[in-house]
Amino acid sequence: MARKVTKAIFPVAGLGTRFLPATKSVPKEIMTLVDRPLVQYAIDEARAAGITEFIFVTSRGKSALEDYFDHNQILEQSLKEKGKDELLKTLNATNMESGAIAYIRQHKALGLGHAVWCARRLIGDEPFAVMLPDDVIAAEKPCLQQMIEAYEETGGNMVATMEVPPEKTSSYGVLDVGDNIGTAVRARGMVEKPKPEEAPSNLAVIGRYILRPSVLYNLNQNKLGSGGEIQLTDAIAEDIRNGVPVFGYKFDGQRFDCGSKAGFLQATVAFALARDDLREDLQEYLHDVIVTGQAAQ
Ligand code: G1P
Repeated sequence: MARKVTKAIFPVAGLGTRFLPATKSVPKEIMTLVDRPLVQYAIDEARAAGITEFIFVTSRGKSALEDYFDHNQILEQSLKEKGKDELLKTLNATNMESGAIAYIRQHKALGLGHAVWCARRLIGDEPFAVMLPDDVIAAEKPCLQQMIEAYEETGGNMVATMEVPPEKTSSYGVLDVGDNIGTAVRARGMVEKPKPEEAPSNLAVIGRYILRPSVLYNLNQNKLGSGGEIQLTDAIAEDIRNGVPVFGYKFDGQRFDCGSKAGFLQATVAFALARDDLREDLQEYLHDVIVTGQAAQ
């Protein structure tokens, strides 16, 4: 039986330059989809999957992220005094237990593999999850939970996958696909950001991983890969070569690439439409804009 996964790494050291000027002073992960920061979606998904230790790999300029996870006692007290119970509940749901979160600094932007490796001492000798908060996944059962359930049967390493248009492979890690086993495929290899003509398939890695500590040992060598960066994909591919099984899990859900403006806007609309308090007004607005080219006042 596979060992329980209780730790997750959240690499959040990126500069978020695609969202300048906003990210000049606001970490990208704090930017809101409707009224919740991007990172809250990842945290909620991790919690639903049984994660109890949250490791953030940060960088200079991310202190707003640390503040966000602090309990805001003044605000809590004020909401309590005013009897604003619903808001208090919303606020309390974001509170993290003391000691549940750890922050590690990535001192240099050397790539995703390096960011994950920075957390190695906090992981030790256990399987762990990696979640990229830019990839927001709307799903009835949270994606990481789906993966953990599958992983309990398979063991090994597991990455979330979905098909992408063949011309988009150069934006993703891509699987060389082996046997199909229900909702997962066994990977024969993995390549980071291959050109379409060199891609082994169009099955792309999406930002959810369950990894064995052997991946961290592979990262010890600090080998540079695609884009001159230390790639997580390469370290997982090395495990495949060493005979460790790697599975691509075809999750049930819709993924939004919130690292791009278009993806962020789409997620905003999708999450707003899923909310009872916003749906009707927004639907009416969208309908008017699309059908008449004019929004109702
Ligand atoms: C990272 C990974 C890539 C993966 C992608 C998913 O790339 O390196 O393998 O497919 O996330 O979003 P990035 O988007 O950080 O360039």
